[in-house]
Amino acid sequence: MTTENLTIRSHKGPYEVRFDDDALARLNADVPDGVHFIVDGRVADLYATDMDAILSHPSVLRIDATESNKSLDRFPAYVQHLIDRGIRREHVLIAIGGGITQDITCFLAATLLRGVDWRFYPTTLLAQADSCIGSKSSINSGSAKNILGTFTPPKQVFVSTRFLETLDERDVRSGVGEMIKVQVIDGPKSFDAIARSYDSLFTDPVVMEHFIHRSLDVKKGYIERDEFDRGPRNVFNYGHSFGHAIEAATDFAVPHGIAVTMGMDMANWLAARLGIGDDAHWARMHPVLRGNYRGYETTEIPLDPFFSALSKDKKNVGQGTVTLILPDRDARVFRDAYPADDAFRAACRHYLEDIRRS
Ligand SMILES: NC(=O)c1ccc[n+]([C@@H]2O[C@H](COP(=O)([O-])OP(=O)(O)OC[C@H]3O[C@@H](n4cnc5c(N)ncnc54)[C@H](O)[C@@H]3O)[C@@H](O)[C@H]2O)c1
Ligand SMILES: [Zn+2]
Repeated sequence: MTTENLTIRSHKGPYEVRFDDDALARLNADVPDGVHFIVDGRVADLYATDMDAILSHPSVLRIDATESNKSLDRFPAYVQHLIDRGIRREHVLIAIGGGITQDITCFLAATLLRGVDWRFYPTTLLAQADSCIGSKSSINSGSAKNILGTFTPPKQVFVSTRFLETLDERDVRSGVGEMIKVQVIDGPKSFDAIARSYDSLFTDPVVMEHFIHRSLDVKKGYIERDEFDRGPRNVFNYGHSFGHAIEAATDFAVPHGIAVTMGMDMANWLAARLGIGDDAHWARMHPVLRGNYRGYETTEIPLDPFFSALSKDKKNVGQGTVTLILPDRDARVFRDAYPADDAFRAACRHYLEDIRRS
């Protein structure tokens, strides 16, 4: 497979995303000096043979990909590990794992010694198709998820879809949810294209890699214009206000990208109820979104925690309003604030209790 590499412009200079199935093997064959590895524990087990030299390097931090492991209170141990292994400013952190490994490494790289370089080998679809570019690190503190963060791009990203062979199906669908989000943002034609190829994504690595590249290319256009998420990039939060509230209300029983898939369906449906969108767009997208969150339509989403999480969303602007990214009549998504009144709550409840399952 030869997929064109991408170069992303950032405030720290350009960085490259290389599509390269042999990147890990090359790294393992010739581990450079002055590096420290941060590796997802499950990936280290699954790829122990492919990574034997990496895993026997003197500085390897293996971390299980759990939300609690990206909490601020875990960081002193990570920092101490790196200090004990002689971390210096000219050293490089190398992350091998999914979004959690990325967030931990990126946050450490941003803050250790006021900044060290980092490189990323994303191993989940979500990280390959979405989070690996865009500079963001987000870590948890107490019960607040992703409340601390920085904008710190990696120096290089190496994407290999071979990693996806061992990913659980729910994690593949989670990544597909984020890919669908990007295609909706790009416009109805792009959504229809991924919708037509939906089944092949799971069976044909060429189709999968094509849409990973497309997703990154669309995202590149936005982050290069608005790296710090002050304007146009906001639309990438489509499906996320509801998605985050669903994750919080279910104690993270619904994986991120699957909650976002449900959140997009909910946004489309509510937009029509609020008179700004069109039922035809909801109906056009519903079968694909419904298919991507299948199995989770029966997960109970308790309403009080849902509304409580929605009202605390960090993207909200005022009291009594929620900021949402919703589609208009042409299915173009845009950001606005809406009153979180009784009618809004009733519509959310109707969606979660009935429409979601339909
Ligand atoms: N910084 C950002 O821009 C950004 C964007 C989106 C999400 N995130 C964060 O990313 C996290 C979610 O990340 P994620 O969905 O990539 O997954 P993850 O890092 O939570 O990993 C999901 C599961 O897959 C396992 N895994 C990883 N690679 C594997 C492989 N190749 N084979 C088998 N198992 C593998 C992990 O061990 C874990 O059990 C959340 O904490 C979210 O907040 C960050
Ligand atoms: Zn997301």
